[in-house]
Amino acid sequence: MEAIPIDRQLGNAYQEKWESRSSVRTRPRKWIDFSQEGYFFPEEKQPLLLRQEIMGLGQRAKEKILLQSFLKYLNDIVSLETRLINSACYKLIDGHSGLHYNDDIKLGAYTVLIDEHYHVYVAQDMSLQLLSQFPELGRFDYPVSDAHYAVALIRQRMEAKYHDAFEVLAVCIFETTLVRELIEFFNSANVHPSIKYYVNDHMNDEARHYGFFYEILTDTWKRLPDDYQEAIGSHLADFIKQYLNVQSDKRFYADLLNRLLQDAKQSSAIVEDLYKGFEISPDIPMVKNVLSVLKKAGVLDNRHVKAGFQAMGWTL
Ligand SMILES: [Fe+2]
Ligand SMILES: [Fe+2]
Repeated sequence: MEAIPIDRQLGNAYQEKWESRSSVRTRPRKWIDFSQEGYFFPEEKQPLLLRQEIMGLGQRAKEKILLQSFLKYLNDIVSLETRLINSACYKLIDGHSGLHYNDDIKLGAYTVLIDEHYHVYVAQDMSLQLLSQFPELGRFDYPVSDAHYAVALIRQRMEAKYHDAFEVLAVCIFETTLVRELIEFFNSANVHPSIKYYVNDHMNDEARHYGFFYEILTDTWKRLPDDYQEAIGSHLADFIKQYLNVQSDKRFYADLLNRLLQDAKQSSAIVEDLYKGFEISPDIPMVKNVLSVLKKAGVLDNRHVKAGFQAMGWTL
């Protein structure tokens, strides 16, 4: 396999920032203070609460929905950060992918691995605190996230030699868009102070990861040979559409409602109705965000990438 050298330098500043500011180095254990008031998930971000028949179930039901939404959120963090991001970091480090990063980037990838394992630990710790405080919550069989589904689906559409580079780029896109979005989500009133504190700490690390992965995205893309850019680039539009999808949320909401209503058919009907007419389009803020990162990183200039978006009917 040909070696593709990627030589972006981060310099000492990145390492110094991590040494002095990373959460794992500097922050205490996250306890949830159950004596304080507040919802465990931002109410305006839970579309089930838009429905009159659900609000009619009362305050306890609302609190339960928000608690379960937070547990699902923590589960998503665990699955995204353990599998996809860690696997991409090892690809940066071991060189088996044919992409050869310098020692500076490899050291940075180790800091990300530590951070993400720490985030998973914190998310697990908080889930267990919640489950022991509210034993009636019970556990869920959570659906596969759209991010995982998108990587698995799009990977199949390209030859095996391009898989690793695609996975690295996919994670660069997650770390510069998805993760931030997930975290900024909690900047709203009435959210429990312990949860806000937790989310801010996570953001502290993810802001640094944004910088790291943005550099990797820009440099990796620029140095990929034409056949890689074509093989991966022609599927990027579809990948973006798939990973921003809401299939996983919809399935979770239907399961959650079914627990409250004890009626699977009615639960699915309510969720379908909530999302009637919803489509991933370039006007959605999250999509704009992704497109602007791809543009800044020079990915959108590629004709195969452009053609993919055009084929989807998106004018950029
Ligand atoms: Fe994280
Ligand atoms: Fe991260």
